[in-house]
Amino acid sequence: MGNHQALSWLDEVAARRRDAGLRRELHPRSAGLEPVDLASNDYLGLVRHREVLAGAAAALGRWGAGATGSRLVTGTTTEHELLELELAEFVGAESGLVFSSGYTANLGAVTALSGKGSLIVSDAGSHASLVDACRLSRARVQVSPRGDVDAVRDALATRTEERALVLTDSVFSADGDLAPVRELHRVCREYGAVLVVDEAHAIGVRGDGGRGLVHEVGLAGEPDLVITATLSKSLASQGGVVLGDARIRAHLVDAARTFIFDTGLAPAAVGAARAALAVLRREPERAGAVLGRAADLARIAGVPEPESAVVSVVLGDPQRAFDAARACRERGLHVGCFRPPSVPAGTSRLRLTARANLTDQEMALIGEVLTDVLAGAPA
Ligand SMILES: Cc1ncc(COP(=O)(O)O)c(C=O)c1O
Repeated sequence: MGNHQALSWLDEVAARRRDAGLRRELHPRSAGLEPVDLASNDYLGLVRHREVLAGAAAALGRWGAGATGSRLVTGTTTEHELLELELAEFVGAESGLVFSSGYTANLGAVTALSGKGSLIVSDAGSHASLVDACRLSRARVQVSPRGDVDAVRDALATRTEERALVLTDSVFSADGDLAPVRELHRVCREYGAVLVVDEAHAIGVRGDGGRGLVHEVGLAGEPDLVITATLSKSLASQGGVVLGDARIRAHLVDAARTFIFDTGLAPAAVGAARAALAVLRREPERAGAVLGRAADLARIAGVPEPESAVVSVVLGDPQRAFDAARACRERGLHVGCFRPPSVPAGTSRLRLTARANLTDQEMALIGEVLTDVLAGAPA
């Protein structure tokens, strides 16, 4: 009885969400019956690559199933250190520090580099993990409109705090468009702030051989620029990384709570990420292939050519987006469906993600199904 009353608010919240078309469902994938994937973040098509599986298996065999402890105690293997060196070298940064996820990398980097008495200026399109990092930081937080460099300049110029951090995704995850990273860095340099760029959707996709947008715009190795990234998208594994000046790495080891109070990344995930990075280095054309397939998807969906692997097809109403995603699924296409709070109200959408290894046969099916579904044809 007591229990029942204590949880009754959940029924009300669930009913409200259902009425607004905002209830979420889990769809377990069953091996062998997988639809064509236009929803995952496996941009380079490496998640089942022979060498990636072998990299994971070798690390698993050598180090066991878990990292066994925090990075500061027993959770750092030589494999972790090699991955950090390889990732840093790849993007042109001085050093790297691996976290258990991209989420914890953002929380750790932002909270350790800010704090009471500092200012954070965060782009309105920043990923939820950066938003949560702001909330945990105890800094004064100012949200700047999407890609608005003048607003960032104003915030930095009028601040009373000595230290300031500016946060942005380089490729915005919902729309797939690019942040003005070069201009933001110029403003940060002018006003003595540090720029944190989340390259989750840019590594493996943008820049020379997938080195990311920071590298593409010529800012690799700048000491006042910090890159964060996930290993779970192009690098086909799990985990996250912070890349930048060696002093920043040393400070995070001392002070980043999600580094210190979290078990190290599992060795198999480290081995998989290292192998995926090796494949990308050997086959840099995979980065271009993703953008080519994204352009093909955009043409089919009748939306502008994207600047990343993300093709956003805005339908407006959440129920309409949900129904369209379900119609795609019933015909063998798994597409993403983004609704509030992931995107602003009125912009619910299908979110298609391109893969470097989409075959012509898959593209033919995609063309048929998407054209029908978007024209409102019955599934
Ligand atoms: C822009 C961005 N940053 C960070 C993350 C979090 O990374 P992870 O899934 O490794 O926690 C994601 C999504 O997963 C993301 O899209």
